[in-house]
Amino acid sequence: MEKSFIFLIFLVLTHRSSMQEDDNAYSKIPAGLKIGIGEASYQTEGAWNISNKGESIWDNFVHNVPWKIDDQSNGDTASDSYYKYKDDVKLIKMLGLDYHRLSISWARVLPNGSADSINQEGIQYYHNFIDELLANGIEPIVTIYHWDHPQVLEDMGGWMNESMATWFTEYAEVLYRELGPKVKVFVTINEPQILCFQGYGGTLIAPGRNLGPAGAYTCGHNMLKAHAKAYRLYGEKYRSAQNGKLGIISHCSGFLPETEGETLPSETAYQFRCGWISHAIFVGDYPQLMKSKVAEVSRNEGLSESRLPKFSPEWIRYINGTADFFGLNHYSSYLVSFPTTTIQNDSFMLDDSGVSIRSDPRWEAGSLKRFRIIPEGFGWLLRKIKSEYNNPPVYITENGLPDNGGLQDYQRIKYHYLYLKEVLRAVQRDGCNVQRYTFWSLLDHFEWNSGYRHTFGFINVNMTSPGRERTPKLSFSWLQNVMRTRQLQPPILPPSVNTTTNHQ
Ligand code: NOJ
Repeated sequence: MEKSFIFLIFLVLTHRSSMQEDDNAYSKIPAGLKIGIGEASYQTEGAWNISNKGESIWDNFVHNVPWKIDDQSNGDTASDSYYKYKDDVKLIKMLGLDYHRLSISWARVLPNGSADSINQEGIQYYHNFIDELLANGIEPIVTIYHWDHPQVLEDMGGWMNESMATWFTEYAEVLYRELGPKVKVFVTINEPQILCFQGYGGTLIAPGRNLGPAGAYTCGHNMLKAHAKAYRLYGEKYRSAQNGKLGIISHCSGFLPETEGETLPSETAYQFRCGWISHAIFVGDYPQLMKSKVAEVSRNEGLSESRLPKFSPEWIRYINGTADFFGLNHYSSYLVSFPTTTIQNDSFMLDDSGVSIRSDPRWEAGSLKRFRIIPEGFGWLLRKIKSEYNNPPVYITENGLPDNGGLQDYQRIKYHYLYLKEVLRAVQRDGCNVQRYTFWSLLDHFEWNSGYRHTFGFINVNMTSPGRERTPKLSFSWLQNVMRTRQLQPPILPPSVNTTTNHQ
């Protein structure tokens, strides 16, 4: 009797300690991992026509085809950060974050697209914003281009025109000269994959050119040239004095095999989506798998040559090696297979690849169905980047979940808890070289073609009030605790919500 009682106590104790171990494992934020939050100019600034700012492709899009935006809204005022940046910096400071990622509006700095005439009021706004961050001990990370180039440049072809690479480099140089002494991390271009496919290949976002995959590939081709030119210029003229780091941001999902052990579909999806941009930079040229597939599809369609443009050997060498870190925006994952019948893709971005991607309907989703909570897909991706590119420093530049607003954002906390845990596991267990993790986003903002219906913010913005008052959400206090302790905090649970997903 006594013996079995002792055994029972032993079982309870060992079970409790293994549970605690589970909970504590991969919870500490290591010293080498910096934590920040981000925003983009068009999504938050407003002040679309203030102080000589030029028209951007987004101003043009929302004013001329407002029906393309779910709620017919626009970013004319957005979160009003042009006027409220000091309030925003106070909030970032309250969160205790290491850095803030902001982007520069090209049309605010160069209203007519040309580096010959800098809008002093425009550049001054960014000086003020960055000075305010630095005065509060927050490091600025600057995205040079987050989808909002001047409309005048679009009128000359935008990313379909190879000269865009030169115009972009001249613009980047203005920022190196002006902001470079204060900014130690620059991102050249945010997510070529999404902008090229949805803005040039399709019509979903500005400029909505509808040029199909050939247009999307040309856009990516010119962006890679633009990025490389801007990177090389920094190296030649600014790096020795400014000593900053530069990179580009890839949009990469996790691609999990539909059938266990069948890895080729995942590999194909990865190379078409993420490798398209990253391979050219970290290895050289487009991935072989992508080149062969697009050539084959093009042939089958009767085209005389592949619709994927070719780089000359000189360009391959010039683009290769132009990143000091792997910039990664990651949100969610898919199941991938080679379909037996006609492709029914969740994404036309993968049509040429021949793979089919889908979400398991049992996976919990945010307010937009493509944002499912699949943390293990993130682990898969981080390990893939490690093995594919020889473990480069990875800056996770966006990670977040949309909901329909409200201050009790339990789901956002749960998402970040599970995703950040996955990052910590990848770093501590698998040796992935992740050096930054960026929550997306600081504020509720204009979410491109979704307007204001879906929110990512840790801070609610009252979009119907002229004062655009800010109110911290529940996730704000959770994040404050994470930063105060530098320890991942358990999710805050509403009575009805489960701690785990099916896929933990
Ligand atoms: C990536 C984009 O960079 C960002 O602007 C957007 O808000 C998020 N995706 C969420 O859709």
